[in-house]
Amino acid sequence: MTNARITLVRDFTLGEVPRRLFGSFVEHMGRCVYTGIFEPGHPEADEKGFRQDVLKLVKELGPTVVRYPGGNFVSGYNWEDGVGPVDKRPRRLDGAWHTVESNAFGLHEFVDWSRLAGTEIMEAVNLGTRGVDAARELVEYSNHPGGTYLSDLRKQNGSAEPFDIKLWCLGNELDGPWQIGHKTAHEYGRLAQEAGKAMRFVDPDIELVAVGSSHSSMPTFGEWEHTVLTHAYDEVDYVSLHAYYQEDDGDVKSFLATAVDMDYFIESVVSTVDAVRAAGKHSKHVNLSFDEWNVWYQRGLDTDDQPHNVSKGWREHPRLIEDAYNVTDAIVVGTLLNSLLRHGDRVKIANQAQLVNVIAPIRSEENGPAWRQSIFWPFARMAELARGQILRASVDSDKYESAKFGDVDVVDVSATWDEDNGRVALFVANRGLDESADVDVSLSGFVCGRVSRAEVLRVPNGKDRFATNTLESGEQVGLSPLAGVTVTGSRLRFTLPALCWAVIEVEVTRA
Ligand code: AHR
Repeated sequence: MTNARITLVRDFTLGEVPRRLFGSFVEHMGRCVYTGIFEPGHPEADEKGFRQDVLKLVKELGPTVVRYPGGNFVSGYNWEDGVGPVDKRPRRLDGAWHTVESNAFGLHEFVDWSRLAGTEIMEAVNLGTRGVDAARELVEYSNHPGGTYLSDLRKQNGSAEPFDIKLWCLGNELDGPWQIGHKTAHEYGRLAQEAGKAMRFVDPDIELVAVGSSHSSMPTFGEWEHTVLTHAYDEVDYVSLHAYYQEDDGDVKSFLATAVDMDYFIESVVSTVDAVRAAGKHSKHVNLSFDEWNVWYQRGLDTDDQPHNVSKGWREHPRLIEDAYNVTDAIVVGTLLNSLLRHGDRVKIANQAQLVNVIAPIRSEENGPAWRQSIFWPFARMAELARGQILRASVDSDKYESAKFGDVDVVDVSATWDEDNGRVALFVANRGLDESADVDVSLSGFVCGRVSRAEVLRVPNGKDRFATNTLESGEQVGLSPLAGVTVTGSRLRFTLPALCWAVIEVEVTRA
């Protein structure tokens, strides 16, 4: 049996939960848009072609903000191709994913879909093949009320009211040699500065995200952020981070400890950003936008499913990277969300990549059903329950040894306190493969009442940690009640089964 003691103190908080931490991402890639959120003619599609079965699952998942339209795709995209009468929109080659883009879905469709989904839009501009002009024109088209060529064009195209998009990404992964329009940090830093300035001349109220590193293992990591921000610090509000993780060669212990890498990545970027702030004598703080993160099995998959599969020719919305997630992946996703929440004082936006089909919590089949993957559950529960203040957690846990990260806490946790509804929520993982964990939580400054939620995601009966939710298997991985949570005064005790992720929510009053 593993033991962990967690101490939470009512007034020891990290600040308000940034609700934009529970963001997602829709890219024109594979089947995320086409046959994902949008499939005219599907029995569940509405008159605009939006799949209502998928939309229902999106609402249940609860993303607060959705990044669009890419991703690598945006670095070769002309936003003008996706507006105006659908039958006049050009079909184009998308070099990023070696596919044909029909442009049947574009900006207006995404705005309409976002309104139905109740999600904020995070729009990326193309700073790969395009630049300042296309970026500022897209802001004018989207946000200017009217009386100019571009804002009137938006009206003519069916939207009298401005879209009022607040959050803008200044390109995507331009540090990566795979990116169309890959740049050096100096080239990108200057471009981001000038594009950001021109976009703000059109709408001073927008928030801007500069491209950071595509992964902490990039050779330019650190130097890239430093150089880019040295140029663009005054213009931008956030710098981005991207990270994808997978289980390598059966090293499950390191995989389960992946959040240690995310912690390192975030803390390193915070240090770099703050060093530029000090050196430049800036008063404002630039925060972090972790706008692509997830588990993604980039190696070892059937090549048919891989991006850039040139041998297959130019296809329209082929199946690309439709990873089937297992129990272990869901637990890792829960700990990654814990890492994001524990850094909520600086990470203000995060987007799980992606929303449907492409490395996604939701899957759908063309002309067929939609369903939840295992990773759906930690996201859905945290998006629902992580509200109010982030509580700093002091954790005294037994440890295990991992090849990549050394000694790691077996029990991983994050916690929030919502004073409005009088509840503390704990999101907790047992990374132990074989042993259950006894967890003792002290909630100093609170008197605990009823346990309002106690659920666990674990290996289903008769299955192993590789169990997945597929079209054939159905949803075999999900949440079940966690029995035996006891409350005494300001103490909470429970036992977590081996290899699980759990949520426990308790009603509290001030002591
Ligand atoms: O999410 C899939 C891809 O991963 C995105 O297009 C790109 O930004 C990243 O490399």
